[in-house]
Amino acid sequence: MENKREERKGAVLFTPYNRGQSIKKAVSMKRDDILFEIKESKLRGRGGAGFPTSTKWMLTAAATSPEKYIVCNADEGEPGTFKDRVLLFEYPDLVFDGMVIAGYVIGAGKGIVYLRGEYEYLLPSLEDYLEEMRKDNLLGENIAGKDGFNYDIEIRLGNGAYVCGEETALIESLEGHRGEARNRPPFPVTTGFMGKPTVVNNVETLACVTKIVENGGAWFKENGTSKSTGSKLMSISGDCEKPGVYEMPWGTTINELLDMVGAKNVKAVQVGGASGVCLNKSQFDRQLAYEDAGTGGSIMIFNESRDMLHVLKNFMEFFEEESCGQCTPCRIGNTKLLEGVNMIENGDFTFSYINKLKDLGQTMQVASKCGLGQSSPNSFISILENFKDEILNKGNGGTNG
Ligand SMILES: Cc1cc2nc3c(=O)[nH]c(=O)nc-3n(C[C@H](O)[C@H](O)[C@H](O)COP(=O)(O)O)c2cc1C
Ligand code: SF4
Repeated sequence: MENKREERKGAVLFTPYNRGQSIKKAVSMKRDDILFEIKESKLRGRGGAGFPTSTKWMLTAAATSPEKYIVCNADEGEPGTFKDRVLLFEYPDLVFDGMVIAGYVIGAGKGIVYLRGEYEYLLPSLEDYLEEMRKDNLLGENIAGKDGFNYDIEIRLGNGAYVCGEETALIESLEGHRGEARNRPPFPVTTGFMGKPTVVNNVETLACVTKIVENGGAWFKENGTSKSTGSKLMSISGDCEKPGVYEMPWGTTINELLDMVGAKNVKAVQVGGASGVCLNKSQFDRQLAYEDAGTGGSIMIFNESRDMLHVLKNFMEFFEEESCGQCTPCRIGNTKLLEGVNMIENGDFTFSYINKLKDLGQTMQVASKCGLGQSSPNSFISILENFKDEILNKGNGGTNG
């Protein structure tokens, strides 16, 4: 994989940084002052859900336990997402420094990176990097000269299940169990890895923390919108001239993004990966922001030549395969939605049955146990709504029964 760090341009993350700089600054600050800056920045988790980072950290910092953990979620399983891989390969300084700062603030002694199994090839360079940090006293005992601040980072490999990116399934997997979502509450902030208070943060969230400590919360929120501050890394794939990872301010419209990557004759844009929503041309003036079209960073572009039923079938096959089977709405629901897609493909459906499947999708969104089943119907519902004429004219067409 080519390192393009020098060429990448951005306002927050794709900027110069010296390893250890923010760790040294952090250990000279009071923990509450760091928390204040994170709160001031209004940083929201980059893993998809957009939960305020300062709230998560405050809850874990307040939990009384001599043992606490930081987990960096590097599972990156959402189809179409590859920005965390770029951060880990080209900007490990931002990610690992963020993990150390998180450990300092909440009082953890250990950080664990849960690395996507398919990224095993990154492991040797990441291990070498951690070793250099130890030599520079950025990991280990009395870090950066701060008496009593002892912290180290370990990397563990995931094993390929999409649901293991969900934070409680990830923790189960780290503990050596089958990767299945836990009931919540209790939440990981009080009862996480090994039953101890745990912060689980996405790779990009932790990288943002390093830049916030370096430059301040007020600086961070100069970019973006009032509800979605800072920048966002977008993994852009599909029908365009310049696919890749881009840093752009939150609030960028889909039209602006399409111009930037040289996308022409675009019919559809899938925002947020397979679990996100699919927009048509009339919606390309929407903003990429939590308050409008939110995303963990996957953007897939489809031009006029693409068959949207085929796109939908691909997503639904993925979810049917990846459902862990623990709860009925997701296990049966995804099977039924996929069956519906196959019925449309064969021209053997009624419009009322398809409407019932959309209702089933809405039930799954509220009744499923974890985010997988809560979000898997998004593609089904949005593609059927936004590409209705194309989809329902497939095969022999449906009947009104
Ligand atoms: C099925 C599923 C897969 C997920 N995969 C990831 C992932 O690969 N990486 C990630 O950071 N978050 C993923 N999440 C979100 C995590 O559960 C969690 O919200 C996130 O790691 C918290 O970090 P943040 O607050 O920094 O966003 C996934 C959630 C679900 C429901
Ligand atoms: S929603 Fe799906 S993935 Fe999540 S617990 Fe239920 S069956 Fe498993």
